[in-house]
Amino acid sequence: MMTMQNPMTEIATSKKAGDTLLSVRNLKKHFPIKDGVLQSTVGHVKAVDDVSFDIRRGETVGLVGESGCGKTTLSQCVAGLMEPTSGEVLFDTGRGGTLGPEDRIDRMSGKQKAKYRRNVQMVFQDNFASLNPRNLVVDIVGRPLRVHGEASGGLLTERVVELLEQVGLGRQHLYRYPHQFSGGQRQRISIARALALDPDLIVLDEPTSALDVSVQAQILNLLGDLQQQRHLAYLFVTHDLSVVRHMADRTVTMYLGRVVEHGPTETIFRDAQHPYTKALLAAKPDLDDDPDAPIATLEGTIPDPARPPKACRFHTRCPVATPDCGWEVDDIVRLLESDDTLFERLSGVSRKSELEAELAFETEEAACKLWEVLRSDRVPEAMREATEILDVKGSKLNVRFRDSDEIGLRALGSGHEAACVHAGRLS
Ligand SMILES: Nc1ncnc2c1ncn2[C@@H]1O[C@H](COP(=O)(O)OP(=O)(O)OP(=O)(O)O)[C@@H](O)[C@H]1O
Ligand code: SF4
Ligand SMILES: [Mg+2]
Repeated sequence: MMTMQNPMTEIATSKKAGDTLLSVRNLKKHFPIKDGVLQSTVGHVKAVDDVSFDIRRGETVGLVGESGCGKTTLSQCVAGLMEPTSGEVLFDTGRGGTLGPEDRIDRMSGKQKAKYRRNVQMVFQDNFASLNPRNLVVDIVGRPLRVHGEASGGLLTERVVELLEQVGLGRQHLYRYPHQFSGGQRQRISIARALALDPDLIVLDEPTSALDVSVQAQILNLLGDLQQQRHLAYLFVTHDLSVVRHMADRTVTMYLGRVVEHGPTETIFRDAQHPYTKALLAAKPDLDDDPDAPIATLEGTIPDPARPPKACRFHTRCPVATPDCGWEVDDIVRLLESDDTLFERLSGVSRKSELEAELAFETEEAACKLWEVLRSDRVPEAMREATEILDVKGSKLNVRFRDSDEIGLRALGSGHEAACVHAGRLS
């Protein structure tokens, strides 16, 4: 016999804490690089390159990494503000059950898509740019309610007052413009607007980076309180691991478009296994530290995301790299690009593969100079060990590297994964 179920019970039971709310699977976002009069595509910036992770109901996932690693691009794909090149974003709009193909945001029906749009909101770092300077606060915060037909007239004003009060502002702020507020207050207005439609997930892209440390702490506390009251999930994007330590249940570290480590925040801070995460942690250990203390910087420059390093993308900067971490011809090209004296005398690179090439110089002396450099401690020992053939014939230098496999995420237990050959062995 069929039993009738109360639809409200169904919705309530389908929204349990800890259930997967959003799932990102193999997501890529590549931006074309255009050149010439015809603006033809000459390459792609691999801003996000095969990223997967989940966000559960009510939790905060911290997304960290240096500038340019793809945090904003990824978060905009999650918030539906940017189309991925490939891969999937799945979102639980309350259908119930586990997430499946029908929950892909690019395949949702109109009704489901509307639910997704209401339930995922975004707060940006630059609140000057994201708040229309010609609009009053009542219009800015009330807009989502008006657009979705939730309220109008006096009711809408009262709803806006309620939202302002929830973020520590009030009725007296309704008829003011954004420029009449401090940076922290403007961020409160952005948060009130994001709360208007009672979302399940807020994507916060560097929400406190532009604020003074004391104001930063107030906004972080406000976000923490709102999360408890409303059972919100946050994707908290920042380049600052100390903020993540205070906010996030789980932490995802990105480097050059890839996730290199993720796990419970406590585990990441106690037992980071990826040398890049360790370097980030060493750069700024804690929010409670002296704010005037100098911040350590990571060594080496971030490679061009249009031609990311092979295998482990961090190998060009890694202090514990091994010969199997992805050494390739491009590492020599990067070295030459950083040395004008040699680069100027390079006349061409003829590649057989990413591992093998002939580098032609204007003079034999220049070819010999590079040979010496590649055998010296100016290059990492691991790179020297990965070099299988290196010889000079006249003004040409032949080089071949040993091949290495992709280094994917390795499970380390309790939801902790790191993409490093040493994972599980670093202390
Ligand atoms: N619209 C675009 N067109 C071309 N390249 C882009 C575009 N948006 C971002 N990029 C490039 O993609 C890469 C990732 O950029 P993104 O803004 O996502 O990094 P981020 O981690 O948010 O950096 P930050 O910490 O500085 O905000 C960068 O190399 C950037 O130059
Ligand atoms: S795999 Fe690990 S050891 Fe090798 S370069 Fe990457 S981070 Fe360093
Ligand atoms: Mg960004």
